[in-house]
Amino acid sequence: MTVPAFGLGTFRLKGQTVIDSVRDALELGYRAIDTAQIYDNEAEVGQAISGSGVPREDIYLTTKVWITEFKRDALLSSLHQSLQKLRTEQVDLALIHWPSPNDKVDVPMEEYLGALADAKAQGLTREIGISNFTIAQTRKAIEILGADAIATNQVEIHPYLQNRLLVPFLQEQGIHVTAYMSLAYGEVLKDPVIQSIAGVHQANAAQIALAWALQQGYSVIPSSTKRENLASNLKAADIRLSEDEMSRIAQLDRGHRLANPEGIAPAWD
Ligand SMILES: NC(=O)c1ccc[n+]([C@@H]2O[C@H](COP(=O)([O-])OP(=O)(O)OC[C@H]3O[C@@H](n4cnc5c(N)ncnc54)[C@H](OP(=O)(O)O)[C@@H]3O)[C@@H](O)[C@H]2O)c1
Repeated sequence: MTVPAFGLGTFRLKGQTVIDSVRDALELGYRAIDTAQIYDNEAEVGQAISGSGVPREDIYLTTKVWITEFKRDALLSSLHQSLQKLRTEQVDLALIHWPSPNDKVDVPMEEYLGALADAKAQGLTREIGISNFTIAQTRKAIEILGADAIATNQVEIHPYLQNRLLVPFLQEQGIHVTAYMSLAYGEVLKDPVIQSIAGVHQANAAQIALAWALQQGYSVIPSSTKRENLASNLKAADIRLSEDEMSRIAQLDRGHRLANPEGIAPAWD
């Protein structure tokens, strides 16, 4: 099993909201769920999965290790805690959420990626990967782990931030691209070009933004608190955009980055 094309995001969703979202998504046919230690919702995600009636082995479950847990022992013990909260013996994918902000003075990449590889060897996760890594950081990760060991680089991609330097590099290296915030947290849904393409396909703008990402081979993990949005988002996989539609969306790129936490985000490509 490797990173599915379509999954459910859970950033910002807490308590009963995330329980309802995960339950609805599983009922609707989602079989991949993306959480993170920092989202503070792993316990609720675990509760929703275990109450869903969907066998654990049918679900691709991702979590992400937060930057405070990068020392070897901390990383391993934080993943044990994640597994306990998620009520599972193993996640399918464990990602490094952000590269270490001060690689030289903080925990070196060799240590935290080595620890992540150990977590896999110990069976805490089936696959490992990275998130928010630049080209230079991905190169270094490849030197440490080998490209084959990196299941994905999960990065922000939507029509307003297309990451045109990083994506071809990842594809050359055979590293799968997961696009996060592929709706730009709702911003691209108001775009007139996307809306007009949606009209042609009798679809909605969210479906077009997702179809655009899926058609390029990226995995997507949109989040929603609304059952009807969860259901319609999933149908994006049935939409085939024309070359002309793809190129009209390509022209919307404006380097508009939403996830850029000060003191954490690297110097982007
Ligand atoms: N690795 C990282 O550093 C990182 C960073 C950010 C996000 N992520 C992951 O990526 C996931 C997705 O990103 P995101 O949740 O920030 O943003 P997103 O998926 O781009 O957008 C979610 C927003 O879009 C709305 N929405 C969803 N479907 C819709 C539809 N069909 N029509 C209208 N509005 C719709 C939702 O509102 P409603 O609830 O009203 O539907 C919500 O406000 C996260 O949940 C998280 O798992 C990872």
